Amino acid sequence: MHTLNKRTLIKTVALSAVAVAVLAGCGKKEEAAAPAAAPAAAAPAADKLKIAFMYVSPIGDGGWTFQHDLGRKAIQEKFADKIETSFVESVPESADAERVLRDMAGQGNKLIFATSFGYQEYVQKAAADLKDVKFEHATGYKQAANVATYDTKTFEGAYLAGIVAGGMSKTKTVGVVASVPIPEVVRNINSFVLGAQSVDPTIKAKVVWVNEWFSPPKEAEAANTLINGGVDVLYQNTNSPSVLKTAEERGARAFGKDGDMSAFAPKAHLGSAVIDWTPYYSKVVTDTLAGQWQSGNFWWGVKEGAIDLLKIADDVPQDIKDRVAKARAGLKDGSFAVWTGPVKDNTGKELLTAGQVADDKFLTGINFYVAGVEGKVPGTEGK
Ligand code: GUN
Repeated sequence: MHTLNKRTLIKTVALSAVAVAVLAGCGKKEEAAAPAAAPAAAAPAADKLKIAFMYVSPIGDGGWTFQHDLGRKAIQEKFADKIETSFVESVPESADAERVLRDMAGQGNKLIFATSFGYQEYVQKAAADLKDVKFEHATGYKQAANVATYDTKTFEGAYLAGIVAGGMSKTKTVGVVASVPIPEVVRNINSFVLGAQSVDPTIKAKVVWVNEWFSPPKEAEAANTLINGGVDVLYQNTNSPSVLKTAEERGARAFGKDGDMSAFAPKAHLGSAVIDWTPYYSKVVTDTLAGQWQSGNFWWGVKEGAIDLLKIADDVPQDIKDRVAKARAGLKDGSFAVWTGPVKDNTGKELLTAGQVADDKFLTGINFYVAGVEGKVPGTEGK
């Protein structure tokens, strides 16, 4: 289990062995790979493939970025004598991002992972000039000859969490603290609700948007609003454990997302929908080292071991755990898809007929709430 404490410890040890540079003007840390850990026969640093990661929140966020950084560490260990990794954390989704990308390339990085949706335009701009650098953009949809996109089917984790929520909610009202209104996040909200309604079709849901990926105070405020409104089980699409901690304080229940957040709120925690970026990062490094890197769009889920609901709480009834196991097995062998009709939006319009399975075009364009969710997706009010 990875906790913040362990991470902090690891980082402290790493920092004592490596150079830490403060990038001029932006105050972000860059941590070089740990040469102390390299075996005696390692290739000289100059021969190593330099790989950089750009993160939107701190590596200590306990969720999204923490998990990307676990992937970075895993490849650093696996390809120790062949690669040198570094990262810059807390890079806003603004022109700052383009500057950091160009700086990373200037420092000799030939493979750059940009790990937040809002980096898309900055990746495109930098990549258009820096043709000898391969860019990997997490959760984007714009590719180029030297830009690949990749994501995890986080909605599958949300659905599995929803099953647990449906079995645990007493008020029959679940809630989601939502981040940035893009189809991925709306899809996750809906998938969570579909999972809950697969157990109890009468379940209702409320959503509060914070319009940021990482803002612990706003995430807590949103969680409090939901609890005050009668929600007793919460999900989130934000990066910190703030929602879970708020649930713990308020006697509600909640889930970890992206990382294993169980340690932050042992009483409230119902399970964590954990992403494992390592298989994808390993594939990209293997391909790049072999001179076979290719642009494309990769979207891995439960089937590929990229996401799963872990650490389901002991007090969740066995029949609910069995339902989770059944859905997980179906996702693994392809016999089950989360988005299978009938699915109606919250105005009563049928969007998938009985038995109809959504294709990727449908999934990547979701901008409605399913039946049972209160309100309208931001930007669709009045439509
Ligand atoms: N940046 C930080 N968190 C996220 C997330 O959950 N999804 C996407 N697309 N970008 C992020």
